[in-house]
Amino acid sequence: KKLKAHHDGQDEDDFSSRQAAFQQAKRSPTFYHPPGISPLSFGNRALPSHSLKSPHFPVEIRSPIQYNEIRYMHNPMKTMHSIHMNQFERKVITMPLVGTTEMFKKAYKGHYAIGAFNVNNMEIIQGIMEAAKEEESPVILQASEGARNYAGQEYIVGLVKIALQDYPEIPTALHLDHGSSYEICKACIDGGFSSVMYDGSKHPFEENVKVTKQIVEYAHDKGVVVEAELGRLAGVEDMVSVDAKDAIFTDPDQAAEFVERTGCDSLAIAIGTSHGAYKYKGDPYLDYERLEKVGKLLPGYPIVLHGASTVLEKCNQYGGKGRGAKGVPEDMLRKAATMAVCKINIDTDIRLAMTSAIREALYKDPSNFDPRNYLKPARNAVKEMVKHKIEAVLGSAHTI
Ligand code: G3H
Ligand code: 13P
Ligand code: ZN
Repeated sequence: KKLKAHHDGQDEDDFSSRQAAFQQAKRSPTFYHPPGISPLSFGNRALPSHSLKSPHFPVEIRSPIQYNEIRYMHNPMKTMHSIHMNQFERKVITMPLVGTTEMFKKAYKGHYAIGAFNVNNMEIIQGIMEAAKEEESPVILQASEGARNYAGQEYIVGLVKIALQDYPEIPTALHLDHGSSYEICKACIDGGFSSVMYDGSKHPFEENVKVTKQIVEYAHDKGVVVEAELGRLAGVEDMVSVDAKDAIFTDPDQAAEFVERTGCDSLAIAIGTSHGAYKYKGDPYLDYERLEKVGKLLPGYPIVLHGASTVLEKCNQYGGKGRGAKGVPEDMLRKAATMAVCKINIDTDIRLAMTSAIREALYKDPSNFDPRNYLKPARNAVKEMVKHKIEAVLGSAHTI
C-alpha cells in the first residue's frame, strides 16, 4: 500500500509539474521555428527560443511510453530523430501517462465518471483524444486482448505515445481491458500501460482472489494500478427474478471482501449491464440498490461499469442490420456516475458510430476507394460520439 501510494503520488506530481512547464512554454512570447520545419506538436505552437539555443540535442529516453517529448516534424511520418537534431536544442517537456487513482478520486468527489474507450487503431485514438481536448476531460484509452491481437501491443503503445505528445494537457491513462491471465497483465505492465484489468470473473471466487492479488503485487511494484471484476455481466435476458439477479449480479459483501483481500484499485461489478449491442430483451434495468450497498460497504472506492453502451439509433442507416439492438439508456448511466461508479466502459457505441460513418460515406459516393475519404468522417464520428458521452453520460467535461 505504501509503495503504491508512493508511486501514485510521484505519478501525479510528475504530471502536474510537467503540465505547469507546458503552460509556461505556451505563454512565452518568443517563438522559434527551426528553418524549414513546422512545429506540429503542442497544437501547432512552437517552442520559446530560449529553450533552443544549445548545439546539443540531448535525447532522454526513460521508458517507451511513460514519458514523451516535444517534437518538431517537417513530415508527419518523420520524427525528431530523423532530422538534424544537433542544430537546436529541444526543450524537454515530457508528459507521462497517468494512473487512474487521482482521476477516480476527483470523479468520486465530483459525482461524475471517467470514460474508458476501447481503441484499436489510429483513427479511434485520434478521435477520442480530440474529443477529450475539446471537452477538457481526462480520458482512459483501453485496449483489449483482441485489440492487442489486431494491432499489436507495440503499435497501440506507439500510437498512444504520439497522442500524449499531441495532447499533453489531457490526463491520459492506457489500460488493458479484460486481461485474462497474469502473463498478459504482466506483458502490458512491462510494455508501458499505466493500468491493467484482470478479469477473473468467470473463475471461482478464491481463484479470482488469488490471481488478482498476484497481479496487484506485480503492478503496484511498478506503479501501475489494477482493476478487477466480480460477478457476471448478464446476457440479453430480462433480469426480473430476484433469484436470477442474486445468482449473476455482484454480491456486495463479497465485493467488500474481494477488495480487502486483493488490494485491487477499482472493481467492475455486475448490476445489469452487458457487453455488445444486444443487452436487454425487455426493459433496460440497473440495480441501483445493489450499487448503493457496494458504495456503503466500500466508501470512496471506485466502481467500474462495463457494457455501458447505449446503442444509439444511427446503426441501421445506410444498410446496417442491427435490428433488435438495445443498450443502457444514457440517463440511467448518468445516475450511476453520480453514485460510486467512477469509470464507464464504452466500446460498442464507438464501433457503431465509426461503422455508420463509413457506410454513409461509401453509400453516398460509391466511386470512392480512397480509405482516407471514409476514415476521415469515421474519425470525426468517433470524436462526436465521445464528446456526446462526456456531456450526456460521464459529466467529466471541464474537469482538468
Ligand atoms: O468488453 C470488451 C470490449 O468491447 C472489447 O471487445 O474483445 O472484441 O476487442 P473485443
Ligand atoms: P459495450 O459493449 O457496452 O460498449 O461495453 C464495452 C466494455 O465494457 C469494454 O470493456
Ligand atoms: Zn468490458
